[in-house]
Amino acid sequence: MYRTHTCGQLRVEHAGQETLLSGWVHRRRDHGPLIFIDLRDRYGLTQVVFDSTNAPEAHAVASQARSEFVLQLRGLVRTRPPESQNANLPTGEIEVVASSAEVLNPAKTPPLYIAKEGGEDEALRLKYRYLDLRRERMQKNLILRHKVVKFIRDFLDDESFLEIETPILIKSTPEGARDYLVPSRVHPGEFYALPQSPQQLKQLLMVAGYDRYFQIARCFRDEDLRADRQPEFTQLDLEMSFVDQEDVLTLIERLFTELSRELMPHKRLTTPWPRLTYAEAMQRYGSDKPDLRYGMELVDLSATVATSQFALFGEAAANGQQVKGIRVPGIGGYSRKQVDEVVELAKQAGARGLLWASLQQGTDPASVRSSFGKQVSNDEMAAIIATMGGKIDDMLLIVADKPSAAAAVLDKLRREMAARLGMADQNVLAWAWVTDFPLVEFNEEEGRWDAVHHPFTAPLDEDLVLMDSDPGRCRAKAYDMILNGYEAGGGSIRIFQREVQQKLFDLLGISRETAQAQFGHMLEAFEYGAPPHGGIAPGIDRIVMILAEEPTIREVMAFPKTQQAVDLMTNAPSPADERQLRDLHIRVADKPNT
Ligand code: AMO
Repeated sequence: MYRTHTCGQLRVEHAGQETLLSGWVHRRRDHGPLIFIDLRDRYGLTQVVFDSTNAPEAHAVASQARSEFVLQLRGLVRTRPPESQNANLPTGEIEVVASSAEVLNPAKTPPLYIAKEGGEDEALRLKYRYLDLRRERMQKNLILRHKVVKFIRDFLDDESFLEIETPILIKSTPEGARDYLVPSRVHPGEFYALPQSPQQLKQLLMVAGYDRYFQIARCFRDEDLRADRQPEFTQLDLEMSFVDQEDVLTLIERLFTELSRELMPHKRLTTPWPRLTYAEAMQRYGSDKPDLRYGMELVDLSATVATSQFALFGEAAANGQQVKGIRVPGIGGYSRKQVDEVVELAKQAGARGLLWASLQQGTDPASVRSSFGKQVSNDEMAAIIATMGGKIDDMLLIVADKPSAAAAVLDKLRREMAARLGMADQNVLAWAWVTDFPLVEFNEEEGRWDAVHHPFTAPLDEDLVLMDSDPGRCRAKAYDMILNGYEAGGGSIRIFQREVQQKLFDLLGISRETAQAQFGHMLEAFEYGAPPHGGIAPGIDRIVMILAEEPTIREVMAFPKTQQAVDLMTNAPSPADERQLRDLHIRVADKPNT
């Protein structure tokens, strides 16, 4: 037997009992005849006292022990004297007086401090991830992740959903990223693709009659990585039959509302979740995933400045551009240097320029310090200030550009300024829905229409006619769930009638041959009685990241990869040996210099 209790278990009521503990040396304080060791496991810390007078052998073991040694010890639980009790520790009222001890395994000096977090390079943490995972922060995150997944499973089980696994070695199911390919040994020159999501398989499960399906599904996408993107990640993948959009939204909203309340009782959320159409989100926030924890909405000044003499404004109106701005409170006093920095930021986001006006002295146009005051009349300046709701000490930031560019720039500024000013309340979970996404968007580079979600997404019934006449205005039964400025999940109601599917393929320029080669199995299945169906896929990593208040999804994954898609611990990817390559019928054309 290695232990009778964990290191987080003992309390005052155990005083007087004998205990057997095993764990890691977290901290060791050597006071000569008395040595104190905080013994750690994933349940907590217990203070152990080694006394050279009463237990010289145990004391000798403790004097050799170092950080991260694995120890086993036997001892008596006793209540600590009041002055040495530690209210911050669940076991802080007791300590164990060791009678015997044994080093189960010594440890080299770890390259990172387990007891003191932070400061070191992330690369070091990832290389020694098994040490990093011993730390409280990572433990908390992995435990939270477990609880999130368990809550989801229990909730969906109660709602008659079945969890069904789908294969990892499949034919490509694209979601807009590159595929990871796996060469086949038995079929020379042929490849499996790892699923970018189980999208097609879950739709086939609907055809098969499993009307409520879910899976905690691993997805693989070879795309540029960011703080909220990894090459492999986990979705709650879900699909339902005989439902419309409202059914999916209602169920998912209930799931994540109850999950938030249960696991994050100290956080506030608004129910029912706010709903924005895509058009409204773009207009008010310049983003399809706005952070709703703060306002600072975009103000459209196009009408206000339509007749302006200022060339920039006049031309914008003539060229179908927009003049829009945000009102940033409290930074009217920014120095010229600080303002220049903000202008630079806007340029990085694609702005040709940024107009600014400081209301440090108040809203009287004569007292406004600005980059464009000389170009506009006092009346015009007053109208701009009034339209934007300007107040003393505000800074008005204004762009004139194509609607998409104005949106991108102001979204970036809105996020950046909110971050600087600490406007986002960490104790709020701002869940919301964004609906009515466009069905297709025009790909300027390729000169064709692309599906915004995926080519199985159904158009809104009332927009069906637009598929022929004005595809860009055709809206889809597609929706995203957003949380604190992130896209937390996306889904849609699917096309289940052959004619509509054909129409969309035609619009996307997917020939009958290509459709047959890529999606033949789907099209065929849909001829054997496909029920109306739809679903969604919330991203588990992103949701746990936000709940845990972590800046990247790497912090909520046990073994993540770097931004360069490298696993620093196992050194993957790495070259394959010649024999393996031969078996797979693969020759590497351009090898990097080795
Ligand atoms: P979509 O491609 O929008 O939809 O993905 C759904 C959600 O998955 C998460 N996600 C990611 N998380 C981490 N790293 C990534 N690289 C990554 N890519 C996506 C996001 C995103 O909102 N099959 C459809 C869903 C459906 O229609 O039912 C799909 O995969 O949180």
